[in-house]
Amino acid sequence: MNNLHILITGGASGIGLGVAETLGKKGARITISDISQENLEKGQAYLASVGIEARIEAADMSRVDDINAMVERLSDAPVDVVLNNAGLQYVAPLEEFPEDRWKLLIDVMLVGPAMLSRALMPSMRERGYGRIINLGSIHSLVASPYKSAYVAAKHGLIGFAKTVALETGDVDITANTICPSYVKTPLVEQQIAAQAKANNISEDEVIETIMLAPMPKKSFIDIEEIAETVAFLSSPAAKNITGQAITLDGGWTAR
Ligand SMILES: NC(=O)c1ccc[n+]([C@@H]2O[C@H](COP(=O)([O-])OP(=O)(O)OC[C@H]3O[C@@H](n4cnc5c(N)ncnc54)[C@H](O)[C@@H]3O)[C@@H](O)[C@H]2O)c1
Repeated sequence: MNNLHILITGGASGIGLGVAETLGKKGARITISDISQENLEKGQAYLASVGIEARIEAADMSRVDDINAMVERLSDAPVDVVLNNAGLQYVAPLEEFPEDRWKLLIDVMLVGPAMLSRALMPSMRERGYGRIINLGSIHSLVASPYKSAYVAAKHGLIGFAKTVALETGDVDITANTICPSYVKTPLVEQQIAAQAKANNISEDEVIETIMLAPMPKKSFIDIEEIAETVAFLSSPAAKNITGQAITLDGGWTAR
């Protein structure tokens, strides 16, 4: 990864931590950011155990002042690639969806990525290189019931990246959204339990009849597949891939 500096939000867990490990092994300089300092320290210790020295930066992605303060702290090590990955889920029918949860999901997964990208772009522009990569979802492209805030935020990321692509045509900055279907992480383990409750079925039935049913490949996506996609999008070879949704969905949207 040519010593590129990548900032990964939501990097203390799941996909973010896995991408940090793969890209660190490929020679990227890694900063993981997350809401909990304690979890960041655990993530940093894990990465150290596999030979990766990572910087940690606590920031709440729903707070623009936190985001700006983090970018200010990172001015000694300009960011080449940002992976807007922090996320959370809340599952409820719209009529029962608490307003504060709906707003939080949009803040963390749409407003936060936009404000973080906004804060990083001047330095990317100055240095003539930048990669803005959003961790979207299959739910950037299709909907599932009871996930209105998540689906709205993830759809929004595609429009956001398309717009940034138009605004950065004059410089080697790209903006893209990776759209995986289900990956076995703590986020999905929680959803399996929540969907089981909402639909009154067992967790195995959720996996078989809801999660993997629309995927011809019938398997969860590996974090490694996402990490390799991030690595490619970060590379100079991907300079003309911009404003795109890169879909890793086991054929879900081929139907
Ligand atoms: N797991 C999947 O199946 C799947 C599929 C498609 C997309 N995604 C997306 O991938 C991303 C990572 O998800 P994951 O599955 O690794 O989940 P995860 O729960 O393991 O990790 C998400 C991380 O985001 C952090 N986070 C939550 N709120 C935050 C906030 N306000 N500020 C900063 N950090 C915050 C959490 O602390 C956590 O470390 C999410 O954006 C998710 O929507 C996941």
